Amino acid sequence: MANETNIFQELISHCKEYGYIFQSSEIYDGLAAVYDYGQNGAQLKKNIRDEWWKSMTQFHDNIVGIDAAIFMHPTTWKASGHVDNFSDPMIDNKDSNKRYRVDHLLEGFSEDQKALGNDALANEIIQAMDALLATNDFAGLKKLIEDNKIKCAVSKTCNWTDVREFNLMFSTQIGSVAEESETIYLRPETAQGIFVNFLNVQKTGRMKIPFGIAQTGKAFRNEIVARQFIFRMREFEQMEMQFFVRPGTQMEWYSFWKAERKKWHESMGIPAAKLRYHNHVKLAHYADAALDIEFEFPFGWKELEGIHSRTDFDLKQHQEYSKKKIQYFDNDLNPEGKPFGNYVPYVVETSVGLDRLFLTILSLAYVNEHWTKEDGTEDSRVVLKIPAKIAPTKLAILPLVKKDGLPEIARALMEDCKTAFHCFYEEKDAIGKRYRRMDAIGTPFCVTIDHQTKEDNMVTIRYRDNMTQERIPLSSVKQLVLEKIQ
Ligand code: GAP
Repeated sequence: MANETNIFQELISHCKEYGYIFQSSEIYDGLAAVYDYGQNGAQLKKNIRDEWWKSMTQFHDNIVGIDAAIFMHPTTWKASGHVDNFSDPMIDNKDSNKRYRVDHLLEGFSEDQKALGNDALANEIIQAMDALLATNDFAGLKKLIEDNKIKCAVSKTCNWTDVREFNLMFSTQIGSVAEESETIYLRPETAQGIFVNFLNVQKTGRMKIPFGIAQTGKAFRNEIVARQFIFRMREFEQMEMQFFVRPGTQMEWYSFWKAERKKWHESMGIPAAKLRYHNHVKLAHYADAALDIEFEFPFGWKELEGIHSRTDFDLKQHQEYSKKKIQYFDNDLNPEGKPFGNYVPYVVETSVGLDRLFLTILSLAYVNEHWTKEDGTEDSRVVLKIPAKIAPTKLAILPLVKKDGLPEIARALMEDCKTAFHCFYEEKDAIGKRYRRMDAIGTPFCVTIDHQTKEDNMVTIRYRDNMTQERIPLSSVKQLVLEKIQ
C-alpha cells in the first residue's frame, strides 16, 4: 500500500508537470478540493465525455441528450428531498475546530486498525457504524468514536462535539436587490434537470417508453472531507442517464444497465479484474435497489459509478410540488389486451463522475518503466498509456532537424492530419528527448521525418506502448492513425 501511495503522489505531480491538472487558484495557495484542468487534461476530459455521450445517445436509439441549467427553481430541491435529506452526520473536534464526516472518521480508524493487523476490530467498527447510520443514532455514533478513543488528526485529542447534520448543497442569491433576492442552490446532481424536463423531452421527441435522457454537466457539493485529489471534489462533473420504464419492469432494466455500464468501462480500457459491483445495503429514501460499480484505485476499492432504481419517487415529487401532471400514456397492450394506460414512469439511473473516471483512466495509464539496454546501461521513462482513442494528442509530427526541407514535409503532413485528429508539431531538441516528452503526455504515435524521407517518401512511426518503430509511407500515416484511434 505504501508503494501504491507513492505512485499516487507521483501521478499527482505528473498531472501538474505535464498540463493535466492544476490546483485551483494556485497562485493564492489554492482552494481545497477544487481543481483546474490544463491543456492536456481538458482535452482528455472532453474525449472521455464525448465517448460517454456517443455511447449513450448514438449507440442507443432510445436515448436522447439534454443540457439543463445549473440553476434551478428552489422548489426543485425541496421536491427532490435534497433540502431536507442531503446531509451527512458531522462531528467537530473542539480543540482544533476541524469538522469531520462521521463515516469517514470511522472508516479511517477502521483502515488504520486493518493496517495494524486488528481485522476483527476493523470489521466490528464498520458493522456498528452501518447499524447506527441506518437508524440515525447520532448519540450512538458519538459513543462509538469516544469508546474507541478516535482522535482528531490535527489536535490529537478526543474532545468531540455532538454529531450533527450538515447539508452539502451550496447556496447563493438570485436577484440584484437584497430584499428581493431569493436563495437558490448550485445543483448537487444533474439528474433533477432531467426529471423536470421529462414531459418536454417525451412530448417534443415523441419518445416511447422505455427511453432515456442523458446529460453531462457540473455538480457542486460542499464536501467536508475532500481528499484523494480529484476523487472527491467540491465542484465536479457528472454524466447521468435516467431511463424511464413501465412500473414493474424496473428490476429487468436495473440488471440490464448494471451489465451494460460495466461493459462500457471495460471498453474504455479498464480491466474487468479492476472493477466490481457493490450492492447498497442501506438504500436511499427514493430507491428500491442500488449498487456501485467500484474501481480499484491506488488507495483502494472505491465507487466509480452508481446504478440506482429510483422508482417513481422523483417524478411523483415534482408532480406534487409543481401541481402539474407528469404522466405517460402507454398504448401498448397488457396481457388482458388493454392499453397499459396512464402512469408515472419508474426510473433506472446510471450516474458516473467524469473526474472520477478521468482519475481511473490516468491511474491505469501511468507507468514508470525501467529496463536494461543492449549495451548494459540502465534506462527509464514515465509514460501515460492512455487508450489511443481518448489520448489528448494522437500524433506527434517531428522533423529530425529543422533544416534541409524536413520541416516543410512535416508541416504539410500536419496540415493534412489536423482536420482529422489532434496533432502536435515539434522540431526542437534531440529526437529521443522529444519521444520522452510525448510518452509523458500519452501521445500514442510519433512520426519522424528524416533525410531519407526526401528520397523515398517513407517516415518512421514510433509506437508509444512498446517503443517499436517501423518505416511506413508518408501517404499512409493519416489512415494508419485513423484506424488505430477507432
Ligand atoms: N444522481 C445520483 C447521484 O448523484 P451519487 O452516488 O451521489 O449519485 C454519482 O453520485 C457519481 O458522481 C458518483 O459515483 C461519483 O462518480 C460522482 N461523484 C459524487 N460526488 C462526487 C465528488 N464530490 N467529487 C467527484 N465525483 C463525485
